[in-house]
Amino acid sequence: YSSDQHDVLQAYEWSTKLFHHVLKHTKDGKDALNYLKNRGFSEEAIEHFQLGFSPRKDQFLAKFLQGKGFKPEKLQEYGLINSRDGNTFFDRFQGRVIFPIHNHQGKVVGYGGRSMVDDEQPKYLNSPESTLFQKGKILYNFHQARKHFQKSNTVVLFEGYADVIKAHQAGVYHAVATMGTSLSDTHVKILKQYVDEVIICFDGDKAGKNASYRTANMLKKAGLNARIANVPNEMDPDEYIEKFGSEPFRKQVIESAESYVAFALQYIKKDYNLNVDHDRVQYVEKSLDIIATVNQAVERDFHLKELEETFNLDRNTLNQEIEIRRRIMR
Ligand code: CTP
Ligand code: MN
Ligand code: MN
Ligand code: MN
Ligand code: MN
Repeated sequence: YSSDQHDVLQAYEWSTKLFHHVLKHTKDGKDALNYLKNRGFSEEAIEHFQLGFSPRKDQFLAKFLQGKGFKPEKLQEYGLINSRDGNTFFDRFQGRVIFPIHNHQGKVVGYGGRSMVDDEQPKYLNSPESTLFQKGKILYNFHQARKHFQKSNTVVLFEGYADVIKAHQAGVYHAVATMGTSLSDTHVKILKQYVDEVIICFDGDKAGKNASYRTANMLKKAGLNARIANVPNEMDPDEYIEKFGSEPFRKQVIESAESYVAFALQYIKKDYNLNVDHDRVQYVEKSLDIIATVNQAVERDFHLKELEETFNLDRNTLNQEIEIRRRIMR
Protein backbone atom coordinates (compact mmCIF):
# COMPACT_ATOMS: atom_id res chain seq x y z
CA TYR A 1 0.00 0.00 0.00
CA SER A 2 1.11 3.58 -0.73
CA SER A 3 1.30 5.94 2.21
CA ASP A 4 -1.97 7.61 1.14
CA GLN A 5 -3.64 4.22 0.91
CA HIS A 6 -2.28 3.27 4.30
CA ASP A 7 -3.87 6.40 5.82
CA VAL A 8 -7.19 5.72 4.12
CA LEU A 9 -7.24 2.13 5.37
CA GLN A 10 -6.71 3.46 8.85
CA ALA A 11 -9.52 5.97 8.41
CA TYR A 12 -11.83 3.18 7.21
CA GLU A 13 -10.89 1.15 10.25
CA TRP A 14 -11.72 4.02 12.60
CA SER A 15 -14.98 4.84 10.91
CA THR A 16 -16.06 1.20 10.77
CA LYS A 17 -15.59 0.95 14.53
CA LEU A 18 -17.38 4.25 15.05
CA PHE A 19 -20.40 3.32 12.90
CA HIS A 20 -20.59 -0.09 14.56
CA HIS A 21 -20.58 1.57 17.97
CA VAL A 22 -23.28 4.05 16.93
CA LEU A 23 -25.46 1.19 15.73
CA LYS A 24 -25.11 -0.92 18.82
CA HIS A 25 -24.81 1.44 21.70
CA THR A 26 -26.36 4.86 20.92
CA LYS A 27 -29.76 6.45 20.57
CA ASP A 28 -28.87 7.59 17.05
CA GLY A 29 -28.50 3.97 16.02
CA LYS A 30 -31.70 2.68 17.53
CA ASP A 31 -33.89 2.81 14.41
CA ALA A 32 -31.18 1.19 12.33
CA LEU A 33 -30.71 -1.58 14.87
CA ASN A 34 -34.45 -2.19 14.85
CA TYR A 35 -34.44 -2.19 11.08
CA LEU A 36 -31.75 -4.89 11.01
CA LYS A 37 -33.44 -6.95 13.71
CA ASN A 38 -36.79 -6.74 11.96
CA ARG A 39 -35.10 -8.04 8.84
CA GLY A 40 -33.83 -10.97 10.88
CA PHE A 41 -30.14 -10.10 11.17
CA SER A 42 -28.75 -11.67 14.34
CA GLU A 43 -26.57 -9.96 16.96
CA GLU A 44 -23.80 -12.36 16.09
CA ALA A 45 -24.02 -11.50 12.39
CA ILE A 46 -24.09 -7.74 13.09
CA GLU A 47 -20.88 -8.32 15.02
CA HIS A 48 -19.28 -10.74 12.58
CA PHE A 49 -19.88 -8.51 9.55
CA GLN A 50 -19.18 -5.32 11.51
CA LEU A 51 -22.43 -3.67 10.43
CA GLY A 52 -22.90 -0.06 11.43
CA PHE A 53 -24.95 3.09 11.09
CA SER A 54 -23.98 6.54 9.89
CA PRO A 55 -26.02 9.02 11.90
CA ARG A 56 -28.11 11.76 10.25
CA LYS A 57 -25.58 14.47 10.96
CA ASP A 58 -23.72 16.50 8.36
CA GLN A 59 -20.26 16.20 9.81
CA PHE A 60 -20.29 13.38 12.32
CA LEU A 61 -17.60 11.33 10.61
CA ALA A 62 -15.96 14.26 8.82
CA LYS A 63 -15.20 16.02 12.12
CA PHE A 64 -14.16 12.81 13.88
CA LEU A 65 -11.63 11.88 11.20
CA GLN A 66 -10.29 15.40 10.74
CA GLY A 67 -9.85 15.51 14.52
CA LYS A 68 -7.61 12.46 14.16
CA GLY A 69 -5.51 14.34 11.62
CA PHE A 70 -6.68 12.68 8.40
CA LYS A 71 -6.63 14.90 5.31
CA PRO A 72 -10.22 15.38 4.12
CA GLU A 73 -9.24 15.57 0.43
CA LYS A 74 -7.84 12.04 0.67
CA LEU A 75 -10.89 10.76 2.51
CA GLN A 76 -13.09 12.22 -0.20
CA GLU A 77 -11.08 10.56 -2.96
CA TYR A 78 -11.72 7.17 -1.35
CA GLY A 79 -15.37 7.86 -0.67
CA LEU A 80 -15.55 8.22 3.08
CA ILE A 81 -16.74 11.83 3.02
CA ASN A 82 -17.99 14.30 0.41
CA SER A 83 -17.59 17.94 -0.47
CA ARG A 84 -19.41 20.38 -2.73
CA ASP A 85 -16.79 23.11 -2.82
CA GLY A 86 -13.59 21.36 -1.79
CA ASN A 87 -13.56 23.29 1.49
CA THR A 88 -16.33 22.01 3.68
CA PHE A 89 -16.70 18.30 4.01
CA PHE A 90 -19.75 16.31 5.00
CA ASP A 91 -20.67 12.70 5.64
CA ARG A 92 -21.41 10.64 2.57
CA PHE A 93 -23.47 7.86 4.15
CA GLN A 94 -25.75 9.90 6.44
CA GLY A 95 -28.76 7.95 7.63
CA ARG A 96 -27.65 4.71 5.99
CA VAL A 97 -26.94 1.27 7.41
CA ILE A 98 -23.28 0.46 6.78
CA PHE A 99 -22.14 -2.83 5.24
CA PRO A 100 -18.33 -2.73 5.35
CA ILE A 101 -16.63 -4.26 2.31
CA HIS A 102 -13.33 -5.93 3.08
CA ASN A 103 -10.63 -6.60 0.54
CA HIS A 104 -9.25 -10.13 0.33
CA GLN A 105 -6.62 -9.32 2.94
CA GLY A 106 -9.41 -8.44 5.37
CA LYS A 107 -9.07 -4.64 5.35
CA VAL A 108 -12.17 -2.46 4.95
CA VAL A 109 -11.88 -0.60 1.63
CA GLY A 110 -15.43 0.54 1.02
CA TYR A 111 -19.02 0.63 2.21
CA GLY A 112 -22.37 -0.33 0.92
CA GLY A 113 -24.77 2.09 2.61
CA ARG A 114 -28.36 0.87 2.63
CA SER A 115 -31.29 3.19 2.90
CA MET A 116 -33.81 2.13 5.52
CA VAL A 117 -36.64 3.24 3.26
CA ASP A 118 -37.30 0.60 0.64
CA ASP A 119 -38.17 2.87 -2.30
CA GLU A 120 -35.45 5.48 -1.70
CA GLN A 121 -32.94 5.75 -4.53
CA PRO A 122 -30.31 4.50 -4.60
CA LYS A 123 -31.15 1.56 -2.37
CA TYR A 124 -27.45 1.07 -1.77
CA LEU A 125 -25.02 3.95 -1.93
CA ASN A 126 -21.54 2.51 -2.40
CA SER A 127 -18.06 3.89 -1.98
CA PRO A 128 -16.71 4.99 -5.36
CA GLU A 129 -14.21 2.82 -7.20
CA SER A 130 -10.67 3.65 -6.17
CA THR A 131 -7.24 2.08 -6.25
CA LEU A 132 -8.30 0.30 -3.05
CA PHE A 133 -11.83 -0.71 -4.04
CA GLN A 134 -12.85 -2.17 -7.37
CA LYS A 135 -16.00 -4.25 -7.55
CA GLY A 136 -14.49 -6.29 -10.38
CA LYS A 137 -11.63 -7.42 -8.16
CA ILE A 138 -13.30 -7.91 -4.81
CA LEU A 139 -15.88 -10.47 -3.76
CA TYR A 140 -17.87 -9.55 -0.67
CA ASN A 141 -16.91 -11.74 2.33
CA PHE A 142 -14.09 -13.50 0.49
CA HIS A 143 -11.66 -12.84 3.35
CA GLN A 144 -13.81 -14.86 5.75
CA ALA A 145 -15.23 -17.41 3.33
CA ARG A 146 -11.82 -18.60 2.10
CA LYS A 147 -11.25 -20.48 5.37
CA HIS A 148 -14.26 -22.64 4.51
CA PHE A 149 -13.58 -23.42 0.85
CA GLN A 150 -11.46 -26.50 1.38
CA LYS A 151 -14.00 -28.55 3.28
CA SER A 152 -16.40 -28.81 0.34
CA ASN A 153 -14.08 -27.66 -2.46
CA THR A 154 -16.97 -25.31 -3.27
CA VAL A 155 -17.95 -21.66 -2.98
CA VAL A 156 -21.50 -20.37 -2.92
CA LEU A 157 -21.93 -17.21 -4.98
CA PHE A 158 -24.67 -14.69 -4.13
CA GLU A 159 -25.73 -11.31 -5.52
CA GLY A 160 -25.93 -9.22 -2.38
CA TYR A 161 -24.74 -8.38 1.10
CA ALA A 162 -27.94 -9.47 2.82
CA ASP A 163 -27.85 -12.88 1.11
CA VAL A 164 -24.30 -13.61 2.29
CA ILE A 165 -25.04 -12.55 5.85
CA LYS A 166 -28.23 -14.62 6.07
CA ALA A 167 -26.40 -17.56 4.53
CA HIS A 168 -23.81 -17.22 7.29
CA GLN A 169 -26.62 -17.25 9.87
CA ALA A 170 -27.92 -20.41 8.19
CA GLY A 171 -24.52 -22.09 8.56
CA VAL A 172 -23.38 -21.58 4.97
CA TYR A 173 -19.98 -20.01 5.59
CA HIS A 174 -18.33 -20.48 2.19
CA ALA A 175 -20.42 -17.60 0.84
CA VAL A 176 -19.35 -14.60 -1.25
CA ALA A 177 -21.21 -12.01 -3.34
CA THR A 178 -20.58 -10.07 -6.53
CA MET A 179 -22.34 -6.98 -5.09
CA GLY A 180 -24.74 -6.64 -7.98
CA THR A 181 -22.19 -6.53 -10.81
CA SER A 182 -21.42 -9.32 -13.25
CA LEU A 183 -18.78 -11.80 -12.25
CA SER A 184 -15.49 -10.61 -13.78
CA ASP A 185 -12.63 -12.60 -15.30
CA THR A 186 -10.56 -11.55 -12.30
CA HIS A 187 -13.19 -12.97 -9.93
CA VAL A 188 -13.18 -16.25 -11.84
CA LYS A 189 -9.39 -16.48 -11.73
CA ILE A 190 -9.38 -15.91 -7.98
CA LEU A 191 -12.07 -18.51 -7.31
CA LYS A 192 -10.30 -21.03 -9.52
CA GLN A 193 -7.27 -20.92 -7.25
CA TYR A 194 -9.39 -22.16 -4.35
CA VAL A 195 -12.23 -24.37 -5.54
CA ASP A 196 -13.35 -26.68 -8.33
CA GLU A 197 -17.03 -25.88 -8.03
CA VAL A 198 -19.20 -22.78 -7.75
CA ILE A 199 -22.81 -22.96 -6.58
CA ILE A 200 -24.63 -19.97 -8.04
CA CYS A 201 -27.37 -18.82 -5.66
CA PHE A 202 -28.75 -15.65 -7.22
CA ASP A 203 -32.13 -14.03 -6.68
CA GLY A 204 -35.07 -16.14 -7.84
CA ASP A 205 -36.44 -13.44 -10.14
CA LYS A 206 -35.99 -13.28 -13.89
CA ALA A 207 -32.93 -11.05 -13.68
CA GLY A 208 -31.36 -13.53 -11.29
CA LYS A 209 -32.07 -16.47 -13.62
CA ASN A 210 -30.57 -14.64 -16.61
CA ALA A 211 -27.49 -13.72 -14.59
CA SER A 212 -27.20 -17.33 -13.38
CA TYR A 213 -27.07 -18.62 -16.96
CA ARG A 214 -24.50 -16.03 -18.03
CA THR A 215 -22.36 -16.67 -14.95
CA ALA A 216 -22.57 -20.45 -15.27
CA ASN A 217 -21.39 -20.28 -18.90
CA MET A 218 -18.48 -18.13 -17.86
CA LEU A 219 -17.44 -20.49 -15.09
CA LYS A 220 -17.73 -23.51 -17.36
CA LYS A 221 -15.59 -21.86 -20.00
CA ALA A 222 -12.94 -21.31 -17.33
CA GLY A 223 -13.00 -25.00 -16.45
CA LEU A 224 -14.94 -24.68 -13.22
CA ASN A 225 -17.88 -26.87 -12.36
CA ALA A 226 -21.03 -24.77 -11.99
CA ARG A 227 -24.23 -25.69 -10.21
CA ILE A 228 -27.31 -23.52 -9.93
CA ALA A 229 -29.39 -23.24 -6.76
CA ASN A 230 -33.06 -22.60 -7.29
CA VAL A 231 -34.68 -20.08 -4.94
CA PRO A 232 -38.43 -20.50 -5.45
CA ASN A 233 -41.20 -17.92 -5.83
CA GLU A 234 -38.90 -15.20 -7.16
CA MET A 235 -37.47 -14.79 -3.65
CA ASP A 236 -34.00 -13.57 -2.72
CA PRO A 237 -31.94 -16.12 -0.75
CA ASP A 238 -32.19 -13.67 2.15
CA GLU A 239 -36.00 -13.77 2.04
CA TYR A 240 -36.09 -17.55 1.63
CA ILE A 241 -34.00 -18.06 4.77
CA GLU A 242 -36.23 -15.66 6.70
CA LYS A 243 -39.38 -17.42 5.59
CA PHE A 244 -38.40 -21.09 5.61
CA GLY A 245 -35.37 -21.26 7.90
CA SER A 246 -31.81 -22.50 7.84
CA GLU A 247 -32.19 -26.22 7.33
CA PRO A 248 -34.54 -26.00 4.32
CA PHE A 249 -32.13 -23.46 2.83
CA ARG A 250 -29.16 -25.78 3.23
CA LYS A 251 -30.95 -28.96 2.16
CA GLN A 252 -33.47 -27.82 -0.44
CA VAL A 253 -31.64 -24.89 -1.97
CA ILE A 254 -27.87 -25.28 -1.59
CA GLU A 255 -27.46 -29.06 -1.46
CA SER A 256 -30.16 -29.51 -4.11
CA ALA A 257 -28.49 -27.14 -6.57
CA GLU A 258 -28.93 -28.41 -10.13
CA SER A 259 -26.14 -29.41 -12.45
CA TYR A 260 -25.26 -26.94 -15.18
CA VAL A 261 -26.83 -29.13 -17.84
CA ALA A 262 -30.10 -29.69 -16.01
CA PHE A 263 -30.42 -25.96 -15.45
CA ALA A 264 -29.45 -24.99 -19.00
CA LEU A 265 -31.86 -27.48 -20.64
CA GLN A 266 -34.67 -25.91 -18.63
CA TYR A 267 -33.51 -22.30 -18.99
CA ILE A 268 -33.25 -22.26 -22.79
CA LYS A 269 -36.85 -23.47 -23.17
CA LYS A 270 -37.98 -19.86 -22.90
CA ASP A 271 -36.53 -19.24 -26.39
CA TYR A 272 -38.74 -21.86 -28.04
CA ASN A 273 -42.42 -22.51 -28.53
CA LEU A 274 -42.44 -26.23 -27.89
CA ASN A 275 -45.90 -26.63 -29.43
CA VAL A 276 -44.45 -25.84 -32.83
CA ASP A 277 -42.61 -28.58 -34.75
CA HIS A 278 -39.88 -26.29 -36.07
CA ASP A 279 -39.12 -24.96 -32.57
CA ARG A 280 -39.13 -28.46 -31.12
CA VAL A 281 -36.43 -29.49 -33.57
CA GLN A 282 -34.40 -26.37 -32.80
CA TYR A 283 -34.71 -27.01 -29.08
CA VAL A 284 -33.55 -30.61 -29.42
CA GLU A 285 -30.57 -29.51 -31.55
CA LYS A 286 -29.57 -26.94 -28.96
CA SER A 287 -30.09 -29.45 -26.16
CA LEU A 288 -27.78 -31.90 -27.92
CA ASP A 289 -25.12 -29.17 -28.10
CA ILE A 290 -25.37 -28.78 -24.34
CA ILE A 291 -25.50 -32.50 -23.50
CA ALA A 292 -22.50 -33.18 -25.73
CA THR A 293 -20.34 -31.01 -23.45
CA VAL A 294 -20.86 -33.42 -20.55
CA ASN A 295 -17.88 -35.71 -20.12
CA GLN A 296 -19.56 -38.35 -18.00
CA ALA A 297 -21.35 -40.94 -20.15
CA VAL A 298 -23.88 -41.73 -17.44
CA GLU A 299 -24.89 -38.10 -17.09
CA ARG A 300 -25.25 -37.77 -20.87
CA ASP A 301 -27.35 -40.91 -20.93
CA PHE A 302 -29.63 -39.52 -18.26
CA HIS A 303 -30.42 -36.38 -20.26
CA LEU A 304 -30.66 -38.21 -23.58
CA LYS A 305 -33.23 -40.56 -22.13
CA GLU A 306 -35.27 -37.55 -21.13
CA LEU A 307 -35.10 -36.06 -24.64
CA GLU A 308 -35.97 -39.43 -26.15
CA GLU A 309 -39.08 -39.71 -24.00
CA THR A 310 -40.22 -36.09 -24.03
CA PHE A 311 -40.02 -35.73 -27.80
CA ASN A 312 -40.56 -39.35 -28.76
CA LEU A 313 -37.29 -39.59 -30.66
CA ASP A 314 -35.18 -42.49 -31.85
CA ARG A 315 -32.36 -43.09 -29.39
CA ASN A 316 -29.90 -44.18 -32.10
CA THR A 317 -30.33 -40.89 -33.89
CA LEU A 318 -29.67 -38.99 -30.67
CA ASN A 319 -26.56 -41.07 -29.95
CA GLN A 320 -25.21 -40.40 -33.43
CA GLU A 321 -25.79 -36.67 -33.05
CA ILE A 322 -23.92 -36.67 -29.76
CA GLU A 323 -21.04 -38.62 -31.32
CA ILE A 324 -20.73 -36.09 -34.15
CA ARG A 325 -20.65 -33.19 -31.71
CA ARG A 326 -18.11 -34.82 -29.42
CA ARG A 327 -15.85 -35.70 -32.34
CA ILE A 328 -15.76 -32.03 -33.37
CA MET A 329 -14.96 -31.00 -29.79
CA ARG A 330 -11.91 -33.25 -29.63
N1 CTP B 1 -26.40 -2.96 -5.38
C1 CTP B 1 -25.72 -1.76 -5.41
N2 CTP B 1 -26.36 -0.58 -5.62
C2 CTP B 1 -27.71 -0.56 -5.79
C3 CTP B 1 -28.43 -1.77 -5.81
C4 CTP B 1 -27.75 -2.96 -5.59
O1 CTP B 1 -24.51 -1.77 -5.22
N3 CTP B 1 -28.33 0.59 -5.96
C5 CTP B 1 -25.66 -4.20 -5.13
C6 CTP B 1 -25.61 -4.49 -3.64
O2 CTP B 1 -24.37 -5.10 -3.38
C7 CTP B 1 -26.75 -5.47 -3.46
C8 CTP B 1 -26.68 -6.26 -4.76
O3 CTP B 1 -26.31 -5.30 -5.73
O4 CTP B 1 -26.56 -6.27 -2.32
C9 CTP B 1 -27.96 -6.95 -5.16
O5 CTP B 1 -28.98 -5.99 -5.42
P1 CTP B 1 -30.46 -6.21 -4.96
O6 CTP B 1 -30.88 -7.61 -5.24
O7 CTP B 1 -31.28 -5.12 -5.53
O8 CTP B 1 -30.35 -5.91 -3.40
P2 CTP B 1 -30.39 -6.92 -2.17
O9 CTP B 1 -29.03 -7.44 -1.90
O10 CTP B 1 -31.48 -7.90 -2.33
O11 CTP B 1 -30.72 -5.87 -1.01
P3 CTP B 1 -31.80 -5.92 0.15
O12 CTP B 1 -32.04 -7.34 0.52
O13 CTP B 1 -31.17 -5.13 1.25
O14 CTP B 1 -33.02 -5.25 -0.40
MN1 MN C 1 -18.69 -4.66 18.86
MN1 MN D 1 -32.33 -8.50 -7.52
MN1 MN E 1 -32.71 -8.89 -0.80
MN1 MN F 1 -31.43 -9.22 -4.06
